[in-house]
Amino acid sequence: MTYPDVRPRRLRRTAAVRRAVAETRVHPAELVLPLFVKEGLTEPKPIASLPGVVQHSRESLRKVATEAVAAGIGGLMLFGVPAQRDATGSGATDPDGILNVAIRDVVHEVGDGTVVMADLCLDEFTSHGHCGVLTPDGAVDNDATLARYTDMALAQAAAGAHVVGASGMMDGQVGAVRRALDAAGHQDTIILAYAAKYASAFYGPFRDAVESTLTGDRKTYQQDPANAREALREVQLDVAEGADIVMVKPALPYLDIVAKVADSVDVPVAAYQVSGEYAMVEAAAANGWLDRDRTIVETLTSIRRAGAQMILTYWALDAVALLRAND
Ligand code: PBG
Repeated sequence: MTYPDVRPRRLRRTAAVRRAVAETRVHPAELVLPLFVKEGLTEPKPIASLPGVVQHSRESLRKVATEAVAAGIGGLMLFGVPAQRDATGSGATDPDGILNVAIRDVVHEVGDGTVVMADLCLDEFTSHGHCGVLTPDGAVDNDATLARYTDMALAQAAAGAHVVGASGMMDGQVGAVRRALDAAGHQDTIILAYAAKYASAFYGPFRDAVESTLTGDRKTYQQDPANAREALREVQLDVAEGADIVMVKPALPYLDIVAKVADSVDVPVAAYQVSGEYAMVEAAAANGWLDRDRTIVETLTSIRRAGAQMILTYWALDAVALLRAND
């Protein structure tokens, strides 16, 4: 007999053995690519704090949507950048507003070939940058905002969105949107609830992407990073109100939340690897401090391992190639 008699390293000796015993794999169908489309652009425009990500023109958006379908990506999450903003975010509910037009363009292009999702939130459309409408003294007015969300959801469903991504963190938003959709005959429109969405510094580059200048912060509606139990409460409420899919956001700093949520509900769980997570790795890689490709695969695998079945990531297209090379 030799010592040690238990040798876990046996299962790590060759790439073939490691592959055979891997517990987690990320599949392209589980990835969702977030895309930005800006009103009035004729050419795609780079976003400085998100190297490799662009604001699309309507034309380039259609093109990338087709590429994503060809790559087998599970879904697209669309964000609109309007030319004009106002206090109530009128562009969000205008059938000719940039996001609604883009939904129509993409659905026309790809049909049911992938899942077309739209951000259901006002911050891209409001002049103050908040996710809702304000009271005269500047607070975000929960119930008045719900009325805007229901109108926005109806505009997105009418444009053909398969999924509306309720991301504003207003109380009652999922139930309000579900009722409005059902009453208008959109029973089949799926609600993805950003159920546990934290007030995070990791959204920084996103603000550049949508050119939003926020007055104040979002701490009265997004969650405190200190809290985990609160996330479960938010998730349970959203499921009870009719959420079809629940999401945790950001992803990597909140893997404990992803795991707890995955254990506590029986609807699909998504996680959003947000702009700051992307920018952090790209910046380190550009300096030669991290191996970009390995880091991307490792972060996605970790998010999947924690329990997310769907991952929103700006690397979705790159990741498909990397995952194929890995397998
Ligand atoms: C809200 C929304 C935000 C993000 C996605 N949807 C911004 C926010 O809540 O402040 C951030 C995504 C990212 O950082 O990549 N419309």
